Amino acid sequence: MQLEIRHLTHRYALEDVLRDVNLDLYAGETLALVGPSGCGKSTLLHIIAGLLTPTQGQVQSSFRGLGCIFQQPRLMPWKDALGNIALGLKALGVPGHRRRTQAAQLALRLGLAEGDLGKYPHALSGGMQSRVALARALVTQPDLLLMDEPFSALDVGLKHELYGLLREQVALRGTAVLMITHDLMEAVRLADRIVVMAPQPGRVLRSFMVPLAQEQRSEAWIYERTARLVQMPDVRESFGLPPLAPVSSAPADGAYEEAQTTDMDMETVASATPCCAQDATPHRGGCAV
Ligand SMILES: Nc1ncnc2c1ncn2[C@@H]1O[C@H](COP(=O)(O)OP(=O)(O)OP(=O)(O)O)[C@@H](O)[C@H]1O
Ligand SMILES: [Mg+2]
Repeated sequence: MQLEIRHLTHRYALEDVLRDVNLDLYAGETLALVGPSGCGKSTLLHIIAGLLTPTQGQVQSSFRGLGCIFQQPRLMPWKDALGNIALGLKALGVPGHRRRTQAAQLALRLGLAEGDLGKYPHALSGGMQSRVALARALVTQPDLLLMDEPFSALDVGLKHELYGLLREQVALRGTAVLMITHDLMEAVRLADRIVVMAPQPGRVLRSFMVPLAQEQRSEAWIYERTARLVQMPDVRESFGLPPLAPVSSAPADGAYEEAQTTDMDMETVASATPCCAQDATPHRGGCAV
């Protein structure tokens, strides 16, 4: 099963928001789409979800079930938490009693309390709303999950708890995930592959494999790989970060270790650069982070 995007261009009025985007996503793969604000990430997700028709290009998907988590939880205010979660099951024709049971089981698994299930969205905290949105997307057991920065407004502890719950649910079914994030460390933590986009017009800049199984990534490894990514000149340029200053050959007292580390990482990055030529080919690979 696979999602194939070829030569996709999308225009709002006269402006190309996305230009010639090529992307593949395979069954069981988690792909993180990162890029600066306004580079067209949400637009691309809406096109993949079938909510927008692209101006040009093809989107072909052989995935059957789709789950979406949008940038805002978008819960129905007239339905309680359980009713919101069960919505997709209703659309699939699952009978009332069964859908409430299935929705409640998943809600409890995702950390909602029994007493929260009858609450309406206005009475749920932001974290509870995120759990409801996650449960609503997962309850239909989709084989493709699209997520648009669903955890960006949450505190670090809750974020990590939801990462774990998401990974657990996704591993159960081999779900493919396309997640949008601003957060490079979140991408290195969760993804098998990271696609970096650049703005004006929105386009794919680079693709990186994350070369270690998700469960084997230690905190130190995640920090180190994120630092490498942030030091790449075109990744910095894409995010509007200033170029790195050259490292002084005679560092001041106390700065030696830091200067040395930076120098070493820059060498690693420089040696990785040639295999990451700027292209938008939809290959599965790309060089390792
Ligand atoms: N309905 C619309 N009509 C006109 N322009 C739009 C519309 N939706 C988005 N845009 C424009 O398209 C560009 C990309 O928007 P999009 O929401 O896809 O960016 P994004 O990468 O998701 O940004 P962020 O990280 O801030 O969420 C922006 O310039 C935005 O103003
Ligand atoms: Mg967005």
